[in-house]
Amino acid sequence: MKLYSIAWVLFFILLMPFPVWAQTTDITMNETLKTIHKRKSVRTFSEKEVSKAEIEALMKAAMCAPSSKNNQPWSFYIIRNKDVMQKLANALPYAKMLPKASAVIIVCGDSTKGVSEPDQAFNWALDCSAASQNLLLAAESIGLGATWTGVFPYKKRIRAVRDVLQLPENVIPLNAIPIGYPAGNEKPKDKFKPESVNWID
Ligand SMILES: Cc1cc2nc3c(=O)[nH]c(=O)nc-3n(C[C@H](O)[C@H](O)[C@H](O)COP(=O)(O)O)c2cc1C
Repeated sequence: MKLYSIAWVLFFILLMPFPVWAQTTDITMNETLKTIHKRKSVRTFSEKEVSKAEIEALMKAAMCAPSSKNNQPWSFYIIRNKDVMQKLANALPYAKMLPKASAVIIVCGDSTKGVSEPDQAFNWALDCSAASQNLLLAAESIGLGATWTGVFPYKKRIRAVRDVLQLPENVIPLNAIPIGYPAGNEKPKDKFKPESVNWID
């Protein structure tokens, strides 16, 4: 009798299906959405180095992005040399934080790839923007901080970055993204505006 009761207890503990109410998830908030909501531009970094494996994880996430005709026109330059970071900071008016980061990623696009008509001339920038956003979200998701600092469409900035990195003419730098462990000063902003949403039912 005693054994029988123990068997029942074990049955309920181990074999009883997980209650249905416990299986339901809030579709308005999951791990992906939490990362999207937590992402913010991070411009102050701690001394902790970002590893090569972490940078590679960011590269893999970036290259998951959609692109026009699946052209994948992007290329990425990973700068870990402080002198090069300083040269880039000197060239970019709103990127003075670059040398304080552990690494700087320059997202570039091949402006000639897959272009068969003039209207497609800027597809590379759209594709590389999608890759950049993936990269920023991936950074947030693994506890890293990053900021998109603008290069394209400013001719002077493009020329300066091209000179520093010795880029060919068809390769256009879109942005410079400093990556590092956040010093903890920046917080996400609440930017949701219901009036920006238009429902056509
Ligand atoms: C196209 C683009 C260019 C940007 N350029 C710079 C820049 O040069 N320097 C900078 O510190 N932040 C730059 N930012 C980051 C914005 O300032 C930032 O995204 C915005 O203030 C919203 O803040 P959040 O990213 O924390 O939500 C840029 C962002 C985008 C999308």
